[in-house]
Amino acid sequence: MGHSIIMGRKTFTSLPNILPKRHHVILTKNQKLIQKYQRNSQVEIVSSLTELNSWLKYHKNEKNYVIGGRSVFQALISQVDYLEKTAIKANFIGNVTMPQIDYDKFVLIKSVAHQPDANNTYYYDFLTYQRK
Ligand SMILES: NC(=O)c1ccc[n+]([C@@H]2O[C@H](COP(=O)([O-])OP(=O)(O)OC[C@H]3O[C@@H](n4cnc5c(N)ncnc54)[C@H](OP(=O)(O)O)[C@@H]3O)[C@@H](O)[C@H]2O)c1
Repeated sequence: MGHSIIMGRKTFTSLPNILPKRHHVILTKNQKLIQKYQRNSQVEIVSSLTELNSWLKYHKNEKNYVIGGRSVFQALISQVDYLEKTAIKANFIGNVTMPQIDYDKFVLIKSVAHQPDANNTYYYDFLTYQRK
């Protein structure tokens, strides 16, 4: 909440709607999407990594979150200062996976364990890593 979330077009279109109180920065070359959100102050469309990096340069003093998907994690992993990982203690079948992350480059600074409850079926940990 209150920060920018950077994502690829497929992740954006998988959202139920524009998320409240967040600025959406979306990577896409899709002209229809570019036109649709041209005048939406909650959405910024960037059409290349070069354009995204210019946006990041301008917003470097802010906290910006990269929220996926795979292609965007892959493209930006070398630039992030922190990783916020939810490790769910279960196995799932899916068609998109996280790219390989070199955890040697990060140090675990926070780990919060969660039990299953009314809202969550599984045990899970919130893990915060900081770049060394
Ligand atoms: N579990 C989680 O935490 C989580 C988080 C995020 C996403 N997801 C899931 O991951 C899936 C999507 O991941 P994904 O990797 O397939 O797709 P994605 O990264 O969300 O989106 C890929 C699209 O982003 C645009 N894009 C990426 N790099 C670009 C570049 N350099 N320049 C211009 N446009 C660029 C392109 O859009 P155009 O084709 O429009 O040009 C590309 O097709 C969804 O199923 C989503 O639900 C899960």
